[in-house]
Order: sequence, then structure tokens, then C-alpha cells
Amino acid sequence: MAEENKSSLDALSALCKRRGFIYHSSEIYGGMPGFWDYGPLGCELKQNVKQAWWQFTVRGREDVAGLDATIIMHPKIWKASGHLDTFADPMTMCKDCKKLMRADQIKDIYADQKKKPQPKVAGSDFFCPYCGGELTEPKPFNLMFKTVVGPIDDPSNVAYLRPETAQAIFAQFLNVLSTSRQAVPFGIAQMGKSFRNEVTPRNYTFRSREFEQMELEFFIRPDEAIELQYGHVVTLADNPDIDGPVQDDWGWEVWHKYWVEQRKRFLNAVGLPTEHFVEYWQKPDELAHYARACVDIEYDFPFGRQELEGIAARSDFDLSQHQKHSGVSQMVFDDPLKQAAKKLDDAARSAFIEKTKSEWVDRRQKALSAKAGREIVLSAEEVEEIKSAAQKFCLNLFDGKYIPHVIEPSAGVDRLMLALLCEAYEEQRLTDEKGKDDIRTVLHLSPKVAPVKAAVFPLIKKDEAQMKFARDLFEKLRRKFNVQWDVSGAIGRRYRRQDEAGTPWCITVDEQTTKDGTFTVRERDSMEQKRMTTAEFLAMAYEALEF
Ligand code: GLY
Repeated sequence: MAEENKSSLDALSALCKRRGFIYHSSEIYGGMPGFWDYGPLGCELKQNVKQAWWQFTVRGREDVAGLDATIIMHPKIWKASGHLDTFADPMTMCKDCKKLMRADQIKDIYADQKKKPQPKVAGSDFFCPYCGGELTEPKPFNLMFKTVVGPIDDPSNVAYLRPETAQAIFAQFLNVLSTSRQAVPFGIAQMGKSFRNEVTPRNYTFRSREFEQMELEFFIRPDEAIELQYGHVVTLADNPDIDGPVQDDWGWEVWHKYWVEQRKRFLNAVGLPTEHFVEYWQKPDELAHYARACVDIEYDFPFGRQELEGIAARSDFDLSQHQKHSGVSQMVFDDPLKQAAKKLDDAARSAFIEKTKSEWVDRRQKALSAKAGREIVLSAEEVEEIKSAAQKFCLNLFDGKYIPHVIEPSAGVDRLMLALLCEAYEEQRLTDEKGKDDIRTVLHLSPKVAPVKAAVFPLIKKDEAQMKFARDLFEKLRRKFNVQWDVSGAIGRRYRRQDEAGTPWCITVDEQTTKDGTFTVRERDSMEQKRMTTAEFLAMAYEALEF
């Protein structure tokens, strides 16, 4: 979409309502903030986005297996993952108008206000962006939705709607490993609903309370295991070919970059050109405590640049936490690693342990210093603790055992849909046959995700031969993909309806069709028409739909 035609969210949301992409949830009761429903076209778009992700991430690869876990899981999962203790946003309330809001979003909310309030307490720079009133001290507010399992409403029965799909993957890691004929490095993918009780859901469907995620946890060997087995670890400094086949001696850095590139390819394939998103590498002080690196892929939405998806290198944090909290070992056994370790003599083993100890101390010190923004010196006790953990880790490695590390590409279905809709929306100024100005509203969705792939129009409703050919063609095509049938109104109006739905091809059956079996195919973006046979149309469509 050309920059000058970039939609305002109002125009896009009006089209989404008008054409049945997105509705307010529970609209007849006044709606529910942060909850949205997808109408007939929206749910087709959603299915297509999810199918594309699944094809690209799971079926199209040999090293990823799928999972479909429950939304409500054992509450200890959320203790282990850290969500119970730390998954919170800073919340504040206006003492005057009683509005609740996220303390870290006050500037953005203020910027959105047409009429900007002045602070009621003179000189205050922390005031309500709605009325200028005084705000309470921000307090952490846990974003997980609570529920009760079973008939007894007792704290011991409290459970949570999952705030991310990722944790089920970690909790089922051993089951998938033992039943999928996979070995590290490999991934487990899951798509599904997640829930976050956002203090202020905003920006249309971007930040919703109920949403859908597409997450991959890709398990890799720790760099030390690779070093032990291959005598080296490939890092980004080695300039590896990450567009070619994956390699056994890649370290975490290379895997991380590899997955960033894979995700960019996927976004390109579903219709987001590389030049329309930004790759943001989080700075060391922005990283979560367990992350070694994190890349946000950001998109320029009409309401500003926002994260579309994140690709995090999560070390062995998650599986280690589940091992600690469940008491069930999450280690894998790697026989080639054990055999490689057997070849080391005592001196080489000791040298390996000492090197690992010093690298771990160094890494912790650097991570803490980056977070604090100043040089942190570890206490002797902390150093000893890290060294002892490193020693234990090395001894396990010599036995061929380790807890896998993880690279996590995590995407939101709803966010991606919104980005695709923003990207696709265009109001074109045209001149009609009578020389009058005309606006064509069109969604330039990629055929791969477009809700309707083709529409079939008989030109003359009263012509029985045309109707029969068109209906037969429609029945044939609908067995292959989503097709619409439209006999009402002039052809121009039928085209416009499909343009707003983002349908890439409109097929018109006319007089010539009944003579030679060809029909016109009008391409949405160029508006060019070509005559084709059914076989030619199918060949063209399949090529455009294939990943
Ligand atoms: N699993 C990462 C996220 O939900 O943001």
C-alpha cells in the first residue's frame, strides 16, 4: 500500500464492520472492551493466516512437531514460569474520574486525546490523561485471568487461563520428545487462545484480552555441548550460511538469527514486504532476565510502530524451572555427545570445566552489569554458586546429558491479521466511464491469505447456458478453495464488493464462454482481464496459493 494511502484505523475498522471481518464482541449488549469477534470474512482470513503459519512452521519442515494443549493447566506451571509472581503491569487510577490505566501508557493515552487536559494539581507531571486529576501510586497488577476448577469456590481450586501458549510446550516437552521421533535440535509448535487481563486494551484488535498466539519453541543444544562434540561452535562471526540447510555445529546465536530470518520470510510470504517492518534488537538492559537476545519485528500501524512478533533466545530457563518445580528431570540424553566426551582425558576434562566456569561467571557479570547500567561485581559467594552449577553442568555433559536451550519465535494471530489488513487497505481515486471521480476501496491481500479466492459471476442471469456453466464452475472451484457466487447487480458493482473483501480473482461467464469454454478473469490489483479456460485458471491460482 502506498504511503499516502495508508489507512486511518477508522476507515479500516468501518470496512471491517461493513464487510464482516471484525465485530465488537457482545455488541447488542454494548460490547466488551478488549474482546473482538471475527465475522464470515474475518474468520476465513484468520484460518488462512493460521494455516499458512502451520504449513510454514510445522508441515513444511522435518524438525518441528505440533501440539494442541488445554487452556487451563496446573497452576504450578505459572509459578514455575514466573507468571504468578512477575507477569504484571503497573496500574494507576485517577482519584477524580476513577479511570484505571497502565502507568507506562499515560503519555500515549494523553497523545491520543483530542482535548488535552491540564493537570489539576499545578506543576504535576503525573496526572490523569483523561481529566487532569491526581493519580494513585502505580501498583503491579497481575494480568492472568483467574478461574475456579470444580464446584467448590476455594483458593485451593484456583486456576488460570493461560497467558501464553508457550508453557504447555515446555510442560509437554518430554512427551513430545519420546513420541515424535525427534531429537534436539527440534521444535514444538502450538497455536491457540491466550488471555491477558489488560488494564487498558487499546488500538482496535492490537491489544485484546482474549487473543490467539502462534508459538514455536525450538530446542537446541547448549553451546558447551557443541564445543565438546565438534571442538568448535559456529557463531555469527563465522558468517554462516543461514539460508542453506541447518547445521549441527551452530551455536545459539546462529539459531537465533536463523529464526529471525525464517520469520521474515514467512511475513513476506503472507504479504508483508521486508521494507514495511523493522527488526529491533533489544538492548542488553531491555532483555528479560533469562533472555540472551530478543528481536522484535515491528510494524508501522496507523497508531504507531508496535511489536508484531518477538524472537527470543530463552537459554535453558523454562525447562530448568519446570525441572525445579515439578521434580521431573527435563534432561535429554545425547549418545554422540557422551561418546565424544569419552575421548577426553582427565586433563582435557578439567580444562573444559575451568573454561566453562569462567565463561559462566563472566556472562552473569556482563548480563547484570548491562541491566544495571553500571559495573556489577559479583560477591565471592555468588561466584562460587555459579562455578558449582557450571561444574555440575559439565559432569552431566560428559554423561551426554543436558537441559536443552530454546529459541522462541512468538507471533500473535490477531496482530498479524491487523497488520495485513492495514497493509492491504487502499482507497484509490479513479475516474469512471462518465468522467466522474470515483473511489475504489480495495484490500490488496495476498491470495495466500485472502478470505475468498475467487468469485464467479454469470453475466446474464436469464441466460440458462451461462448460468449452468457458471454454477458448474462454482461447484468445481468451491471443492478446492473458498469461492463466492454473485448474480446480483451490474458487474462493476460485483467487482467492487469483491475488491472490499480482498478477493484476488473475479470470474465472469459470458456469451463466449458457452461457445469456447473460456471466461474472463479480472485481477483485483491491476484490474486487468484475461480470458482463460478452467485448467488455465486453476494452474494460475495454484501457483499463487502455494508456499
Ligand atoms: N511466549 C512469549 C509471549 O507470550 O509473549
